[in-house]
Amino acid sequence: MEIPRELADALRGARAVAALTGSGVSAESGVPTFRDARSGLWERFDPEELATPEAFLRDPKLVWEWYSWRRGLVLRAEPNPAHRALAELERRVLCFTLITQNVDGLHRRAGSGNVIELHGNILRTVCSAERIPREPGGGSPPRCPHCGAPLRPDVVWFGEALPPGALEEASKAARGCEVFLCVGTSGVVYPAAGLPREAAEAGALLVEINPERTPVTSLADFVLRGRAGEALPALVAAAFSGG
Ligand code: OAD
Repeated sequence: MEIPRELADALRGARAVAALTGSGVSAESGVPTFRDARSGLWERFDPEELATPEAFLRDPKLVWEWYSWRRGLVLRAEPNPAHRALAELERRVLCFTLITQNVDGLHRRAGSGNVIELHGNILRTVCSAERIPREPGGGSPPRCPHCGAPLRPDVVWFGEALPPGALEEASKAARGCEVFLCVGTSGVVYPAAGLPREAAEAGALLVEINPERTPVTSLADFVLRGRAGEALPALVAAAFSGG
């Protein structure tokens, strides 16, 4: 993929870089996205029945088992070249913050260290009453060994607040960076979707990487129209290995 020289130079010269990722980054690892027309989870499943606190109260078994299925997909998946390029970028840039909406933990498995998980992590299980991490035993859902409440995945459901401090930290990184990469997200779920605009308004160079047009496109200074697994390694190579 052709990377504009001006973009490669800006990335090479930046002291602070932030990236916002969405499910498109994990698509090439075989983890389904949410809104893609053919394979998106929300094309096949109703979020109201699976990803809200009300759904969990109504039918905890259904919700637990749906997340167990997704956890299985994530555990079988491997990080792809997009995850690895972002980990490499963290090693190259003085101050790099990775903000992800993904709950699959693939960024850390690829070697990223400074990761803000805005929507939690599907591999962690917490007590639904106390929100304290617990080892899940048997049962569907398993019960908290301390208080007996059902356990749940440590993810953010529709209508719930983000993890304490996560949005503030993400917003600080967006406002403080020189280059902001928006990768593999449809940019429609707030508050995460507000971060690219926040970065651009604070003066960052805004770069979108996505095969499709999104609401972020019209704000972006550069758009790399392609898959993250191709565009990100090409971008990192153009900036740091002379192309
Ligand atoms: P979406 O499914 O809404 O968007 C995925 C985006 O990835 C789309 O814009 C695709 O065009 C793009 N895409 C697909 N394949 C790609 C590839 N190989 N490389 C780059 N981009 C690709 O997923 P998110 O934006 O992550 O929230 O969704 C945001 C939130 O909505 C999720 O975190 C989740 C969901 O409901 C919660 O569960 C709270």
